[in-house]
Amino acid sequence: MSAPRQLRLGTMLHGAAGNMSAWRHPAVTADASINFEFAKATALKAEEGKFDFLFVADGLYINEKSIPHFLNRFEPLTVLSALASVTRNLGLVGTLSTSYSEPFTAARQFASLDHLSGGRAGWNVVTSPLEGSAKNFSRTQHPEHALRYRIADEYLEVVKGLWDSWEQDAFVRDKASGRFFDPQKLHTLNHHGDFFQVAGPLNIGRTPQGRPIIFLAGASDDGKKLAARHADAIFTHHNTLADAQAFYRDVKQQLEQHGRRVDELHIFQGVSVIVGRDAQEVEQQYQNTAALVSVPDALNYLGRYFEHHDFSQYPLDDPFPELGELGQNSFRSTTDAIKRQARERGLTLRQVALEAASPRPRFAGTPEQVADGLQQWFTEYGADGFIIQGGTPETFPRFVDQVVPILQARGLFRRDYPGSTLRASLGLAEPANQFTAR
Ligand SMILES: Cc1cc2nc3c(=O)[nH]c(=O)nc-3n(C[C@H](O)[C@H](O)[C@H](O)COP(=O)(O)O)c2cc1C
Repeated sequence: MSAPRQLRLGTMLHGAAGNMSAWRHPAVTADASINFEFAKATALKAEEGKFDFLFVADGLYINEKSIPHFLNRFEPLTVLSALASVTRNLGLVGTLSTSYSEPFTAARQFASLDHLSGGRAGWNVVTSPLEGSAKNFSRTQHPEHALRYRIADEYLEVVKGLWDSWEQDAFVRDKASGRFFDPQKLHTLNHHGDFFQVAGPLNIGRTPQGRPIIFLAGASDDGKKLAARHADAIFTHHNTLADAQAFYRDVKQQLEQHGRRVDELHIFQGVSVIVGRDAQEVEQQYQNTAALVSVPDALNYLGRYFEHHDFSQYPLDDPFPELGELGQNSFRSTTDAIKRQARERGLTLRQVALEAASPRPRFAGTPEQVADGLQQWFTEYGADGFIIQGGTPETFPRFVDQVVPILQARGLFRRDYPGSTLRASLGLAEPANQFTAR
């Protein structure tokens, strides 16, 4: 009999959990996004809760309207490398864009993190939604959505090829004979493609996990297609169980079309959570955090999804404006959902902006109620796991102390790490080296 399906958990390393203005909350470390002690405390708490991984999101363009804790924050791989030395089992997942980096460098950086951490590295592959990023990378234009995904596809081929440069036991380092490596176990990629020309080999050996775990954040059709081909995990957001289930079915079907098993890719729903004593205390926590968001803050927050569109030009209490194609080349799956919701529910601009900037958490209630919600989404195949995004600054420690034990008691979540690597935590098999597999 196969083992029962287990739920997986990750958490976001937040600058300020809850919303863009939550840095003003009395419980928040106001400089959290650039404070290593805060990052370390979050990682250690996640490890205490036996979380699979800590997740660091990222972006490549800011302006004065950006979310405050995006203005001054660590580069993901750098902070994860420091966290590798103060944690033992926690997976370390960092975001890097395939639109604004080189495959050789990315392969090398994530391989290094995997070696440094003893096999706990994960890469959140993104294609970068923000048009302004082009201005920071000597480009005249941000590549359009479909092109970004074509680039990402070839990029991942190259990186995977580079990660297979050396077989696991290639470095013999035999002092007596003077033989440092076995040339039979060295493989040179020689990639010639539409976007990349990369000879290889990579100047770092095969990693403890075989190769780092690949996450993909992107939920459009092209995003799903790319994930089905390459990813070990997807990070996505859905507001209803029905939407999450439809997404889940679609991705798992595509996986099978690529000759992969459905359990070779985990779907993580990013969920906002509030844990409280009772309904009244939950509402109070939500209101305390929501009250920090001003209407101009909310308009800026909404605008960022739409290429920093200036929403202050429209009347606040009129129906949400018609935006045409705006948003298609940035956060497409998110902007499509915002437009659809506004239309279907007849919302005003004020309502859309406040909901976007300070959304009501998907799972809010007592620890049992939160566990019930997660259990339902998991057992009814809306998700294989969750990335917990605190709905308020108080959420994460409460989740670890009060919700995790319930999930464990119900047999949904393990009580200890099964091994030392992220791959072991996620129950994923080590991939064969493509050169030896041939
Ligand atoms: C859940 C989710 C999380 C994302 N996180 C990031 C991120 O941390 N950094 C980033 O540059 N883009 C992020 N993106 C944006 C994607 O990289 C992508 O450019 C954009 O969403 C368009 O792709 P899509 O239409 O396939 O979702 C995220 C997208 C989603 C759906």
